[in-house]
Amino acid sequence: MTTPVAAIVDAPAYAQAVEDAVKASAAYYTGGTSPMDDDTYDRLVRAITAWEDGHPDQVLPDSPTGKVAGGAVEGDVPHTVAMLSLDNVFSPDGFTAWTASLARRVGHEVERFSVEPKLDGLAVAARYTRGRLERLITRGDGTAGEDVSHAIGTVEGLPEVLTEPVTVEVRGEVLMTTAQFEHANEVRTAHGGQPFANPRGASAGTLRARERAYTVPMTFFGYGLLPLPDTDPELAGRLRELPHSASMVRTAELGVNTTAGTAVPGTTAGTAEQVLARVREIAALRAALPFGIDGIVVKADLAADQRAAGSGSRAPRWAVAYKLPAVEKITRLLEVEWNVGRTGVIAPRAVLEPVVIDGATITYATLHNPADITRRDLRLGDHVMVHRAGDVIPRVEAPVAHLRTGAERRIVFPEVCPRCGSAIDTGEQRWRCGNGRNCHLVASLSYAAGRDQLDVEGLGRTRVVQLVEAGLVTDLADLFTLTRDQLLSLDRMGGTSTDNLLAALGTAKGRPLSRVLCALGVRGTGRSMSRRIARHFATMDHVRAADSTAMQQVDGIGTEKAPSIVAELAELAPLIDRLVAAGVNMTEPGATPPDPAAADGPTGASEGSQDMQGAKGTQSAGSAEGQEPAGGPLAGMTVVVTGAMTGALERLGRNEMNELIERAGGRSSSSVSKKTALVVAGEGAGSKRARAESLGVRLATPDEFAALVADHLGQPVS
Ligand code: IVH
Repeated sequence: MTTPVAAIVDAPAYAQAVEDAVKASAAYYTGGTSPMDDDTYDRLVRAITAWEDGHPDQVLPDSPTGKVAGGAVEGDVPHTVAMLSLDNVFSPDGFTAWTASLARRVGHEVERFSVEPKLDGLAVAARYTRGRLERLITRGDGTAGEDVSHAIGTVEGLPEVLTEPVTVEVRGEVLMTTAQFEHANEVRTAHGGQPFANPRGASAGTLRARERAYTVPMTFFGYGLLPLPDTDPELAGRLRELPHSASMVRTAELGVNTTAGTAVPGTTAGTAEQVLARVREIAALRAALPFGIDGIVVKADLAADQRAAGSGSRAPRWAVAYKLPAVEKITRLLEVEWNVGRTGVIAPRAVLEPVVIDGATITYATLHNPADITRRDLRLGDHVMVHRAGDVIPRVEAPVAHLRTGAERRIVFPEVCPRCGSAIDTGEQRWRCGNGRNCHLVASLSYAAGRDQLDVEGLGRTRVVQLVEAGLVTDLADLFTLTRDQLLSLDRMGGTSTDNLLAALGTAKGRPLSRVLCALGVRGTGRSMSRRIARHFATMDHVRAADSTAMQQVDGIGTEKAPSIVAELAELAPLIDRLVAAGVNMTEPGATPPDPAAADGPTGASEGSQDMQGAKGTQSAGSAEGQEPAGGPLAGMTVVVTGAMTGALERLGRNEMNELIERAGGRSSSSVSKKTALVVAGEGAGSKRARAESLGVRLATPDEFAALVADHLGQPVS
C-alpha cells in the first residue's frame, strides 16, 4: 500500500521495517502479490539504510540492505555465478556520486558505459547446452533458483535452439507485454481465476505455475551472456573479455531477443552527461513502450572496468539502476460513478482514495465497461492497483484480492440511464443510453460546434446550454434552422451576437464532409477516421450507401468496426436528412467517389493488421481506390506532428495539421513507429522526437515541412 514511509526512530521500528520489507520482497520474488508497491518498498529500504548508517552495530542479519535481495526464497538449482541485484539511484546527483565512487574503485574515470532499460519482469537464467535450451531457472535467492523449465516454449524471444551449438547461459528478464498481459487476464478469468494485478505479477505467477489447463505467452529480453562450467574454454575466455555491449550483440546473433529491436535499445555513452541524456530519452519513451520498465540500468561496459570495480554480496559495483518514478500504486476503490458521454455511452469511472503517482494526485481512473468490472471481480472498498503512465488516463488494473477483509461491497450497475432514466442498451460491451446522443445533448452539441468539427464561433457550452434549456434545439440539425428572433429571445443575446452566431452557423454549413461526419459523433470514429471515411467515399450519399464490406475498404476499418459504423449511420439517417435539408455541405473537397467496379470486397486485409493498413494507405495515384489523393509530396508517407508549430504553420491546430498532411497525400498518425516516414517536430517536442531519433525516423522542422507541402498549404479548410 502507498502508506507514507516515516523515518525510523528506534530499534523496534527498525525491526518492524525490516520484517515488512522482507515479507514484501519475498512476495515479489515468488510471484505473490506484494501488499506494498515498488515505490513504497524503495522508500522503506531507504529509511532502513538511513537507520543502519547511524546504528551500524544494530544491523539485523536479514535486512534487505545487507544481502542478496529477495533472499526469502530458497530454490533447488544452484547458480554457477550468483544472480545479483542492483543498487539504485534516484536522481542525477545520485548517479554522479555513483560514477565518482566507481572511478575511485577502478582507479580512473570510466569512459564507456552501457545504458539500457531496466525491464520490469522476473530475472531468469536460461542454460543452453550445445545450442539447446535445457534449463530455465528463476533467480530465487540469488545463489539458487527454482527450476521452471516447464515454461520453455511459452516464452517468446527465448529460442529452444540457438543459431550456434554453443554452451552458454543467457540471463535476462521474463515479462509480459501489455497485450500479453491483457490476453493472460482474459484467459485466466475465463478459467475462473482471479486476474493478475499487473504484468510483473502475471509473469511471475505464470512462470512458476505448473499443470495449468492453459498456457499464455510471455516475452524474454536477454541482458547477460556468460559461460557455463562446460563451455569450451576458448569461448569462455572470449565471453569473459567481451564488453557488455558486444555481448548483447552476440546474444542477439544467437537468436535471443534483446532490447536492440525495441524503441529503447541498449546504447553506449562516454560520459556521465551522455548517460543522463540517454536516461532522459528512455524516460520520455517509457509511456509509449509496449512493456513495462522501472528504470535504466547503467553498466561499466568494459570487462576490465567491471573486474576492477568488483561486486558486493548483494550487487555489482560496476552497474547501477537509475530508478524512474513508479507508474503503479495501490489505493482503494471508494465508489464507481456512471457518466454519460456525448454519444450516449454510459462509462463507469472509479473514484479512488487519492494517491500520488509520478507527481500527480490521482482521484479518478477509467474502468472501461461493465463486463470488464465483472471479469475483474472488482468490489467497492477493494485495494486496487492503479496504473498511470505519461498523459494517458489512469486505469484500474485489478483488485489486490488477498487484501480483502470481507467488508467489500458489490458494485451496483445502473438499471436505467443515470442521466435521463431511459432504458439502457446493453447489447454491446459499452452500454449506451436508449436515448443515444440526445441524452447528453449539451455534450454532443458542444462537441459538434468545437474547433476541430464544425468550428462554430460563439457557440460555446454556455450558449448550448441556453439553447437546449429554452427548447430551441433538440438535435444537431436544429442549430441550422434557428431564426434571428429565436436567438434574440435568449438572455444576454443582443443583435450583434445574434448576427455573428447566424453568420458562424452559415459558415459551418460549408465545412467539408469529414468535419460533418466527425460532428455527428459516430461511435468508433474520431477526427482521423472521419477524414479517412470522407476521403474514401467523397460524398455522404456514398458513405450512406456503403455496406459493411464497402466500409472495410477504408484504411483502418476492419471486420469488427465496419458493421457498427454502418448501423450507426443508419440510425443517424433522419438527422442526416435534416442536415441536408438545412443546406449543410455533404461532400469532401478534392476527393472522388470510389469506382463501383473496384468494390469487390475486402482485399484480404485482416482486422487490425497494421501492415495491410499501411499498404492500403499507400495506394494513391492510379490505384483502384482512385479517390485517394493522386500523389502529392507526402504520397505513401505516414507523418507524425509533435510540439508547437511555428512560422507558416503557427496557426494550425493538430487537426488542421493532420488535414494538411492528408491533402498532401500522406497519412497522419499520432504515434511514432518504424513505419513512420517523417516526424514534424516543433518547439517543445519531447518523447515523440526522442523516439524518432532512436528509430532513425526522418525529422523536419515546421519550416522545412511548410516548404515541403507549400502547394497544399493555402487550401482553405472549408
Ligand atoms: S543486470 C549483475 N540489466 O533488475 C547485474 N538487470 O534490480 C544484474 N533487470 O535482478 C542484472 N533489466 O532482474 C540487468 N537491463 C538489465 C535489467 C536488469 C531488468 C533486473 C534484473 C535484476 C534486477 C535488479
